[in-house]
Amino acid sequence: MFDAPITPFIAALPKAELHMHLEGSLEPETIMELARRNGVRIPYASATELRAAYDFTDLQSFLDLFYLGLTVLRTGEDFYAMTKAYLDRAAQDNVRHAEVFISPQAHLRRGIAIAPLMDNILQAFDDVVAERGMTGGVIVGIQRQFDEEDALSMLNTLQPWRDRIIGLGTGGPEKGNRPAKFRRAYAKARHDLGWRTTIHAGEEGGADFVCEALDILQVDRIDHGVQAEADPDLMRRLADTGMPLTVCPCSNIMLRVFPTMQAHNIRRLHEAGLCITVNSDDPSYFGGYMNENFAAIQQALGFSDAELWQLARNGFTSAFMAEADRDRHLAELDKITP
Ligand code: HPA
Ligand code: ZN
Repeated sequence: MFDAPITPFIAALPKAELHMHLEGSLEPETIMELARRNGVRIPYASATELRAAYDFTDLQSFLDLFYLGLTVLRTGEDFYAMTKAYLDRAAQDNVRHAEVFISPQAHLRRGIAIAPLMDNILQAFDDVVAERGMTGGVIVGIQRQFDEEDALSMLNTLQPWRDRIIGLGTGGPEKGNRPAKFRRAYAKARHDLGWRTTIHAGEEGGADFVCEALDILQVDRIDHGVQAEADPDLMRRLADTGMPLTVCPCSNIMLRVFPTMQAHNIRRLHEAGLCITVNSDDPSYFGGYMNENFAAIQQALGFSDAELWQLARNGFTSAFMAEADRDRHLAELDKITP
């Protein structure tokens, strides 16, 4: 689907990934293997059949498969293997820093114990720090289709890992689930837990969702946010405040937010002075990891290497990371001259 050439420059560019759903990195082969091993029924006969079903019409048609696929995860080992596999794959794309969303509510409601889940995911991060000097961590994602009580209860459950979690986010279906629904959860994350915050807004929801996220939730980043373009005042505000948008080009084509990559607005958002980052969202479902996303926008929209370098830099400056790590990563980026 996305087969633009990955140039040596793109391959060599150090990258920060800020918008990736860990359960969205499960490849169909892994889903089928875990289903077999864990005795979970998946209504597809083979990985090929499952992959053939990745023909989405909108966000919900994807979410149905995403929430089905994650049911094969049962043991702590499964969560460790998924996390390590993603981080190793990201390292191949020269990702040096990865902040990944997890969807604890989807696991808690099917009776998965939280401790093996969290401990194993975090262990995989510890291992890549030790092995590769990669940095990153976990952003806990609220599933917006459930009520705020469910989100608050999840935050209580995660209290023991408070100091190991870097932020709060929100995913799931935007339609009918406005940002303000989670006002108390975001206040708790910021004030009581000391976390940074972000939210999916303006993917299928409108520019008003982005405004609400800024005004009411006071988030530090916006995930997707591409619909902000419809509101000139908001565009100026995003540019003036340097508010990062974590844009996911291949995802937006696969979920028909834009009909083609040529029609994607990422170049216009960048040229309007917004702080734009490039991310893979759910790489196994959307046909591309980080390098494919950078290559796709270069081919379709004519981004120069210097512009791609700036987008990669935005990833590091927008990351929820310690300043010493940021300085180290930015120094590496400075060694790559476009
Ligand atoms: N959008 C919204 N919610 C999600 C996504 C996404 O791409 N992936 C997992 N949950
Ligand atoms: Zn997402």
